[in-house]
Amino acid sequence: MSLKRIVFLLTVIIIFSGCANNFVKDLEFREKTGLGKSNGSQDGITISYTDQITAQWIASPHAKPLAATVGRDECIRCHDGMAFALKIGQAQDLAASTGQDCLTCHSGYGSQLKVREVIDIPVKKDFIAGMGALCSSCHNSNGVPDINDPRRPYPHYGPQADVLTGFGGIREAEDVQYNNTYGHISLSESCIDCHMPKNKEGFITHTFTMEPENAELVCASCHNGAKDFNIKAKMDYDGDGLIEGLQDEVLELMDILEEAIRAELGGGSFVASRGVFQFYDNEGKLLEQVPNKVYLAAYNYYLIKNDGSKGIHNPLFVVQLLQQSYKSLTGRDVPGAGLVRDIGE
Ligand code: HEC
Ligand code: HEC
Ligand code: HEC
Ligand code: HEC
Ligand code: HEC
Repeated sequence: MSLKRIVFLLTVIIIFSGCANNFVKDLEFREKTGLGKSNGSQDGITISYTDQITAQWIASPHAKPLAATVGRDECIRCHDGMAFALKIGQAQDLAASTGQDCLTCHSGYGSQLKVREVIDIPVKKDFIAGMGALCSSCHNSNGVPDINDPRRPYPHYGPQADVLTGFGGIREAEDVQYNNTYGHISLSESCIDCHMPKNKEGFITHTFTMEPENAELVCASCHNGAKDFNIKAKMDYDGDGLIEGLQDEVLELMDILEEAIRAELGGGSFVASRGVFQFYDNEGKLLEQVPNKVYLAAYNYYLIKNDGSKGIHNPLFVVQLLQQSYKSLTGRDVPGAGLVRDIGE
């Protein structure tokens, strides 16, 4: 190891233990003052508040580093908690690999983002996201799509901020004005208002996943009587003659679009692998090129698929993007569907 690297690593360790110390002090303070939840008990044994949070975090995907990203400079700023918190750009400067651990969000850059409240993501400058700036800094598509890009890249696996801002996806025409569900995209702490719900004792979960048992707490303040996330849509967006839950409408619209893409490939198929789409004909032969409209539809399909909320992040935008992608591809509207139209129309 060169002297330069030893000095660098020592600096990192000193800065990080400084952060860690502040974090531990903060935790002790919260335990003492009883901020957050009171001590709970499990099998009759009292467990501390921090232990409860730690157990929730361990059960979350954030706790596990992803092997495919370890040691890769272009992945660590989102996939490695230490690289994120200390803004370390080179994997060789990391002493170990960490997932998104406590220090990721409670020290360094993570702490700064929680108070900065505004974040630039590739598709949108100055997204006002409250504490959700923290989540959005990693949960975006990691690029700006270009319909002419011959490599045909797909949106990265966590493009939630692209959907929430309504700036994600590929549009056929610049002047189409997309609708947004403002009630969702202008929540003061964005992601955190839904994914880390609060009761009067504090934040009730550190699993970060939307737990169905919290649907009432999170959604019913605005949607009377909500008991799950599949809240009834306003219209029959998929054209099957029924007005179902929005998540069902969106899943069905995705199936319709997928079918249309395959039909356009003459009964072929498409997969997203190692950063780019691969399109195949009906004999399984890899196609060198596909028309732009096929790429547009495939990109937008994957944007909504990888977003994972089945439309909830921004219902009107998601429905319109899927319906428009279908129209760009086939030249007609989704048959029988209640359409979300261009605002300008
Ligand atoms: C992905 C980001 C993230 C990770 C990882 C994370 N937290 Fe948090 N945590 C937050 C956010 C956001 C809040 C709410 C704002 C705040 O109080 O900082 C929070 C709040 C807290 C609170 C205060 C809760 C309350 O009700 O006031 C404690 C204590 C805490 N976290 C401890 C931990 C511990 C311990 C770990 C690791 C086991 C951890 N956090 C991991 C994001 C994270
Ligand atoms: C430092 C980057 C980073 C930050 C900050 C971050 N995440 Fe993540 N998150 C990830 C990565 C990377 C994964 C995937 C982990 C894996 O599969 O190894 C993930 C996974 C998740 C998952 C699970 C997704 C699934 O498909 O099961 C949820 C939910 C999630 N994050 C929500 C949040 C929320 C809410 C916040 C803000 C409080 C947040 N994340 C902050 C990087 C981040
Ligand atoms: C801009 C931040 C960012 C960068 C840079 C990034 N990722 Fe991710 N990645 C994420 C987030 C966030 C998730 C979790 C998405 C979800 O589950 O919703 C994720 C998920 C993944 C998954 C899917 C994991 C699973 O369990 O399904 C793979 C594979 C992956 N990333 C590979 C990579 C590789 C390889 C690189 C570098 C070439 C990379 N990522 C760079 C943010 C990023
Ligand atoms: C209006 C509430 C709301 C907001 C705001 C919100 N989410 Fe979600 N999110 C949901 C719901 C509901 C689901 C779908 C859960 C289900 O069906 O199981 C979801 C799904 C997800 C998923 C897929 C994995 C999972 O947990 O099931 C990720 C990752 C995610 N959201 C991250 C984010 C990020 C990052 C932000 C901010 C950019 C955000 N969310 C903002 C409500 C919200
Ligand atoms: C802060 C208030 C607020 C919260 C919290 C909220 N919503 Fe909404 N939601 C709205 C508003 C406002 C609209 C637009 C309603 C309208 O156009 O009349 C909306 C629209 C919707 C729609 C769209 C229906 C359609 O066809 O356009 C669905 C579905 C929905 N919300 C589900 C949810 C779910 C699930 C949650 C909890 C994870 C949630 N909402 C949390 C305010 C909220």
